[in-house]
Amino acid sequence: MPHYIVEPVSGVSGTVRVPGDKSVSHRSLMLGSIADGVTEVSGFLESEDCLSTMKAMRALGVRIEQIGPQAVRVHGVGLRGLKPASHALDMGNSGTAMRLMTGLLSGQSFDSELIGDSSLMKRPMERAAKPLREMGARIETLEGKPPVKIKGGAALKGIRYELPVASAQVKSAVLLAGLYANTPTTVIEPAITRDHTERMLLSFGCQVDAAHGEVALTPPTSLKACTLEVPGDFSSSAFFMVAGSINPRQDAVLTISGVGVNPTRTGLLDILALMGADLRVVNHRSAGAEPVADIEVRPAQLKGIHVPEHLVPLAIDEFPVLFVAAACAQGETIVTGAEELRVKESDRIAVMAEGLKALGVTCEVLPDGIRIQGRPEGRNQQDPGAKVFSGGTVDSHGDHRIAMSFSVASLRAAAPIKILDVANVATSFPDFPGTAGAAGLHVTVHE
Ligand code: S3P
Repeated sequence: MPHYIVEPVSGVSGTVRVPGDKSVSHRSLMLGSIADGVTEVSGFLESEDCLSTMKAMRALGVRIEQIGPQAVRVHGVGLRGLKPASHALDMGNSGTAMRLMTGLLSGQSFDSELIGDSSLMKRPMERAAKPLREMGARIETLEGKPPVKIKGGAALKGIRYELPVASAQVKSAVLLAGLYANTPTTVIEPAITRDHTERMLLSFGCQVDAAHGEVALTPPTSLKACTLEVPGDFSSSAFFMVAGSINPRQDAVLTISGVGVNPTRTGLLDILALMGADLRVVNHRSAGAEPVADIEVRPAQLKGIHVPEHLVPLAIDEFPVLFVAAACAQGETIVTGAEELRVKESDRIAVMAEGLKALGVTCEVLPDGIRIQGRPEGRNQQDPGAKVFSGGTVDSHGDHRIAMSFSVASLRAAAPIKILDVANVATSFPDFPGTAGAAGLHVTVHE
């Protein structure tokens, strides 16, 4: 199993570009596949997760060409043009791919089966299956987990569904099934979650009305192919936002260019601002339906906070790296209302706590979050680059975001950090060591 060695470095600076947005890339393949006509996608994330979706759509009879770096051409087969796959569809490590595909496949005339890697096979699937069954879909899970077996030929009806958990994946699964229903479908969210599906459906000419926490979809007769530009992934930029904030090099600016700043994704900007970070979002523009900007990061003495719970769903994938920032802050940081972190690619509360403790940070696991002791208040005020982490070994438990988060910790580490089980970094950030290196981090991969 490959591991990283990350060496302490003196700081980060310059300009980096992060790869394309994972959520948007998955959706571009799914919607492009069931549209009429050819959808061209630029900025596409060629990571393992998105390639799992690409393979699945190809297995369902869709021609998808990789026409250049980060550029794909999807030859849509129309809403009813998918063909049965000859085998179970392997969604690899991707919860997004599995849950969204469950919705999409619920409306088909043929049977399908979805499987995944050892992490995905342990993740909850009933959250998507339950509302889909209410729509008339016939879905079986194995004690709530994959394999997910979907019977074809079900007549779907629109429902009004109140999500019990704030989940963009479940919302999207219901909306994708709603494309095949005989009446409109409405999803009610307990908190705002990422709205990439809604935005992209509009780009494909589908009627979607979103207001006051409700999303209503009118089943279309067809989707119309379009041109899509995928912005840089805010979640991948998060590692550099924290790196630039805990940067020991006081006069440095780290710029992350071309980042998607959809407001349903940018909770980390608000959380870091509350902690005293100096983040400037500049050069606003758009990539089709998605807003894009550059983010300039300057070092700052962060302070611990109780993270407001309403920001949790807006920063759901950024908590591992936020915990690294919290360890560098003065005082205590408390995260609550974040039990969803326990059912991500790993139990991110337990796995981060284990790693932080291995590097000498005091923290306490809470049922729905964590309490992290930062640096003592009032001490070392004059030394913003003070070492916070000892060197040592941490186990990412195969979770990409945990591996990248501890790489960032090297900026404030007294000795090298060995990070185990890092192959899955390729699920979201194919050349993380290269991009991290361009910023000034020192990450090497070892077999
Ligand atoms: C995603 C939604 C989120 C997020 C995941 C991607 C999406 O999951 O954690 O990485 O693309 O819809 P949940 O909907 O389960 O919160």
